[in-house]
Amino acid sequence: MSATLIDGKAFAAQVRAKVAEHVTRLKNDHGLVPGLAVVLVGEDPASQVYVRSKGKQTVEVGMASFEHKLSPETSEADLLALIAKLNADPKVHGILVQLPLPSHLNSDLVINSIDPAKDVDGFHISNVGLLGTGQKSMVPCTPLGCLMMLRDHLGSLSGLNAVVVGRSNIVGKPMAQLLLGDSCTVTIAHSRTRDLAETCRRADILVAAVGRPEMIPGDWVKPGATVIDVGINRIERDGKTVLVGDVHFDSAAQVAGAITPVPGGVGPMTIACLLANTVTSACRANGLPEPEGLTA
Ligand code: GUN
Repeated sequence: MSATLIDGKAFAAQVRAKVAEHVTRLKNDHGLVPGLAVVLVGEDPASQVYVRSKGKQTVEVGMASFEHKLSPETSEADLLALIAKLNADPKVHGILVQLPLPSHLNSDLVINSIDPAKDVDGFHISNVGLLGTGQKSMVPCTPLGCLMMLRDHLGSLSGLNAVVVGRSNIVGKPMAQLLLGDSCTVTIAHSRTRDLAETCRRADILVAAVGRPEMIPGDWVKPGATVIDVGINRIERDGKTVLVGDVHFDSAAQVAGAITPVPGGVGPMTIACLLANTVTSACRANGLPEPEGLTA
């Protein structure tokens, strides 16, 4: 392996330490305790793990955690009523509704019922529009984490060719907006892109967010490129379940200048950025200066 490893686990610990420091300052100087409400509808095992982890880390950085676990049969009206209550609660600065929601619930309607100022996921249509027009917004956590790691590793991103593989609302599209905001030349590629290999080979920054295990081999990577692997895929290998990214790590690490591993790359940054967004939201709600280095 010749690439530098971008250690997301260590970087996320640094972000959490900065968040914790800011939370202490808010408490001591302003008597303000940032609060995050997480809403889980149903019993999806992966979602339960994420929600537990979010609650634990929220408390660890000194913030208040409000968990709302609702039955899989919860009606849309009941869910919207809970969100309206959280929107009006001054102790709640961030609201996250864990996705995916059960199929009888309209995710767009539910997400767009969250107060945009408390939308720490950055999924509300207002935040999507603000980000797209370069205005101050709540930025989706996973792309924000990727941006922080890229800036930390590369310094200025200005003028670099960035290729984002994947066009989801949660990662691909906001990632492209953030890279454009940092003056990259951005291509959004996806499963229908003609000659995806050639497109990827032009990338100084390659962000893989397609959800297909090890789809991007080393010979699609430009020598010296910075590779950010957002994929978290469970596969069976040699009789064991293992986690792999969307990039074929071993071959890509021979060619890339730097690469994020899976696990231990982008994954830990997502919750760290959720905590960062909650502190940012608490500061904005109270007219206080935002924490430095924790926003886009
Ligand atoms: N499910 C998987 N990732 C996410 C995320 O970033 N936010 C929410 N709300 N749900 C998710």
